[in-house]
Amino acid sequence: MNDKNTKNEKMEAIVSLAKRRGFIYQGSDIYGGLSGTWDFGPLGVALKRNIMNLWWKMFVSDREDMLGVDAAILMNQKVWQASGHVDTFSDPLVECNNCKARFRADHIENNTCPNCGKIGTMGEARQFNMMFQTHVGPVDDEASVSYLRPETAQGIFTNYKNILDSYYPDLPFGLAQQGKAFRNEISPRDFIFRSREFEQMEIEYFVDPAKWEESFEMWRKLVWDWCAVIGLPTESIHELEVPEDKRAHYSKRTIDFEFDFPIGKEELLGLAYRTDFDLMNIQNNSGKSMDYNIKGTNTKFVPHVIEPSFGVERTIMAVLSIAYTEDEINGEKRVFLKFPEHLAPIKYAVSPLLKNKPELVAKAREVYNILKKKQAGMPGLSSLGGVAWDDNGNIGKRYRRQDEIGTPYCVVIDFDTLENDTITIRERDTTEQKRVAISEL
Ligand code: GAP
Repeated sequence: MNDKNTKNEKMEAIVSLAKRRGFIYQGSDIYGGLSGTWDFGPLGVALKRNIMNLWWKMFVSDREDMLGVDAAILMNQKVWQASGHVDTFSDPLVECNNCKARFRADHIENNTCPNCGKIGTMGEARQFNMMFQTHVGPVDDEASVSYLRPETAQGIFTNYKNILDSYYPDLPFGLAQQGKAFRNEISPRDFIFRSREFEQMEIEYFVDPAKWEESFEMWRKLVWDWCAVIGLPTESIHELEVPEDKRAHYSKRTIDFEFDFPIGKEELLGLAYRTDFDLMNIQNNSGKSMDYNIKGTNTKFVPHVIEPSFGVERTIMAVLSIAYTEDEINGEKRVFLKFPEHLAPIKYAVSPLLKNKPELVAKAREVYNILKKKQAGMPGLSSLGGVAWDDNGNIGKRYRRQDEIGTPYCVVIDFDTLENDTITIRERDTTEQKRVAISEL
């Protein structure tokens, strides 16, 4: 049962829980914050790592056609000139003549200033480039200009030739990268949904141009598989075929995968057919051939690219909003995060029934150490999620606290444990408790 009436109430409840329990804080909070930046606390970073590790496992380590890279964030300015970002990576900006506040033109409704509420005061739209510019080295001149990367993709394209030289993988093959991206968004908003600093998980999949549709369909299906693995219900995901005039400058076909966030239906991730746009730009600007020569033949061409692009923060926001649940146990309201087990920051919380009984504490420590060791050695997805020690407050309070951070199992050591090496394991979603042997955990 979710009794949050409005979408915003649910969003507010999630933001407040995220802060209170150490998932996500406003960046630079202590100094009044820095708009569009967010810091991850202990549980947030664990959730984020579980998501990113799972993605890497599914799309890189478990596949034969994929390799990983990790490129520098600062790149030669020629990268962004050649890619078209210097000229075209911009949003339309408007300023209110009354209060001087600035907004994205497409976020203005009914010609009304969202800040002062005046009607008809918005000026002419002008293009605002969203890249953060900086200088590399001690001299502030044109030659030292660089940018914080606005997408991880270019770090992949610029390494395509290196990878061919070192590996020469068979076509089709993909290169994957995870890492920070920066965009000077005109109006960052909706918690971590639109941030100025965020993380992406991107794949550039290099294909024979004659076969791009096949690979596009393969990735379309894999995106659905990914959404299922992270626990997003099929009915909450919607494909949007992006029309030509709304597509990025490099794309010939794009499907946005939208998700029913508490703030409404919005883009979660994108799948684009980037053609040979990037490799041709690199070839033309660097003078180096980007040709791929099919082994044992004279057939050569510049591969085309299919790009599935995932935003980490939006994934976290989707996972949090699906997991957020309210119910009632014995007339008492309960809030819990129904994370899939493999995404939960903590998988087992171990407690002695009473913290002032040394024999219970010693036995609980023993179980905690066994579980910690077992958990680390589990294969695949089962190894994700940590083991926590929790002896604060009474058992009921511990359960509530662990429910609120999405821990699927609470393990309690009581006097029976001392007698027969069994423990109580309590399940988050059903609140059912079972007695099992320690060896069965
Ligand atoms: N390389 C292609 C690319 O960057 P994009 O649609 O601009 O495409 C891909 O971004 C994904 O990155 C988005 O679907 C979203 O998940 C995430 N993303 C983009 N801008 C973001 C922002 N300001 N804050 C958080 N995530 C963002």
